[in-house]
Amino acid sequence: MARIVSHPRMSEPTPKKSISSHRWILGYLMREKAIFFPSLAALFFTAILSLGFPYFLKELVGNPSDALKQQVDPAVILARSNQIVLQLAAVLALQAFVAFFRVQGFIRSGESALNRLRRDLFDHLVRLPMSFFHEQRAGALSNRVSADLGVVRETLLTTVPQAVRQTVILLGGLTFIFISSWKLSLIMLGSVPVVVLAIAFFGRKVRGYSKDAQDALAEAGTVIEETVQGIADVKSYTNEPFENTRYAMALDRFLGVTKHGAKNRAAFLSFIIFALFGTISFVVWHGARMLATGEITWTNFASFILFSIFVGASLGSFPEIISQFQQTAGATERLRELLDAPAERTDGDADAKLGGYLSFVNVSFRYPSRPDVQVLRDLDFLIPPGRRVALVGPSGAGKSTVFSLILGFNSPEIGQVLFDNRPASSLALQAIRSQIAIVPQEVLLFGGTIRENIEYGKPGASLEDIQNAARQANAHEFISAMPEGFETLVGPRGTMLSGGQRQRIAIARAILADPRILLLDEATSALDSESERLVNEALERLMRGRTSLVIAHRLSTVRHADSILVFNQGRIVENGSHDELIARDGTYRFLVETQLV
Ligand SMILES: Nc1ncnc2c1ncn2[C@@H]1O[C@H](COP(=O)(O)OP(=O)(O)OP(=O)(O)O)[C@@H](O)[C@H]1O
Ligand SMILES: [Mg+2]
Repeated sequence: MARIVSHPRMSEPTPKKSISSHRWILGYLMREKAIFFPSLAALFFTAILSLGFPYFLKELVGNPSDALKQQVDPAVILARSNQIVLQLAAVLALQAFVAFFRVQGFIRSGESALNRLRRDLFDHLVRLPMSFFHEQRAGALSNRVSADLGVVRETLLTTVPQAVRQTVILLGGLTFIFISSWKLSLIMLGSVPVVVLAIAFFGRKVRGYSKDAQDALAEAGTVIEETVQGIADVKSYTNEPFENTRYAMALDRFLGVTKHGAKNRAAFLSFIIFALFGTISFVVWHGARMLATGEITWTNFASFILFSIFVGASLGSFPEIISQFQQTAGATERLRELLDAPAERTDGDADAKLGGYLSFVNVSFRYPSRPDVQVLRDLDFLIPPGRRVALVGPSGAGKSTVFSLILGFNSPEIGQVLFDNRPASSLALQAIRSQIAIVPQEVLLFGGTIRENIEYGKPGASLEDIQNAARQANAHEFISAMPEGFETLVGPRGTMLSGGQRQRIAIARAILADPRILLLDEATSALDSESERLVNEALERLMRGRTSLVIAHRLSTVRHADSILVFNQGRIVENGSHDELIARDGTYRFLVETQLV
């Protein structure tokens, strides 16, 4: 019996991981250490040099007045000032020069690390099981991921350098302040613990709101995505106002959360402004009194004020830095959740060749996302190689679900799917899927050229093979009639082609793939009779010699089948040939008489 694995939604909190999110991201940066470490060293260097600015300024400002007091010759003072300003210019030039490479290095290593992360995420994403995708709204997932990556990017490229720089300036600045006057410094530092406590207290609140805000914004993004995807339906039902309202509501929710968060952030900042600059004013006032009594020299007082401004500015930038780090923690946690979601199984015989013998033994199934609905019950059937079997039955009977079990998108809850009498679970998913082709009900193509879309059945196929496949699929003629032939762009999701043309492209793709087993979900939408003839002819060629399962909506298809499985409410209620089933007064006859087939 196969286990049903359910996958956590991305928004659900998961237990904390043993290594912190920041260290995890740092792991990505470490892979770029050849560039990252030199840039980091350069950053330290420029941050220290940036302390040269207040240092030389205080020399410029402080020296002359102290010197004048000692009645030094003004010409000497002037010469010294010239010397100081030249030194300052040299330091600034050196700082600018190193900064040029440092900024480049950070961007290069940061973006490379991010690209690696993006690749890892995508690699993992495509290996996640179908059930994972069924549980997500398509837009929500991609919006969420790109929003989270955006936050991580901002942190790596801007916040990390900023944090290092401000820390160096803070510590360096404090050192100079203490050298200038330890008494004044102590007075000033009296207020710092208060500020630190405030950061810790408000920071926690701000973090909660910014995560909520991100969630709300991602939700609004989902509305856009869904609307754009279904724009034809939106327009034909004139539901623009409905979508507008939906979007406006999502935005309002976002704004509500943001406003709440803004209050906290504003209070945070106001407090810091008041505490910080209030203290500085108080301290300077104290300094002025010390100056008056000769307790401090002009140079030291100037030094104290200039470095205090630097220290104040750097302290003021910490709330932003910390809140950005907290946002990043939230974002990376979600990204890691995605990376930790269990991927599809990779075990089983990878070289198995399918002979085309397919059977279901006592298969029962429920979708993990909806465990209260028994979708398939006790299915038992076998299809010898090369046979053509039609699946018929009312909507919701479970026909498409049979396909998803064959493709290994889901596993039976009870019972087994067998290929050539070997349990599907003993074969690699890759081996099974590469020998099965599916022509879906609604063909959605990729937004490339016709050639690329056919080639998707067998990447690397020669143009000749592609043209042959198109010929057999009755598609060659209409493709050649187009000015750009096989290089014609099909438009997003193939919307520049007609329904019948899209189907024939999908058939050509399947012919090129040359599968052992063919799954065909017949289109319910009617084609015009000429188009239908071309499609049917192509399908005939495609099905020849292959085990084919057809979910049939047309009587003509059913008549040509070797046998028919009649589904109702997840069970096979009848099976046999058309004539046998018509002779019985059962579900099939009812379906045929009411033209449901
Ligand atoms: N991903 C899913 N998650 C949960 N339930 C699902 C999922 N897909 C289908 N179902 C449910 O399983 C049942 C069978 O669906 P299925 O798509 O197999 O029907 P069908 O016979 O192919 O119908 P139709 O002829 O309309 O295509 C339905 O009740 C449906 O609601
Ligand atoms: Mg279906």
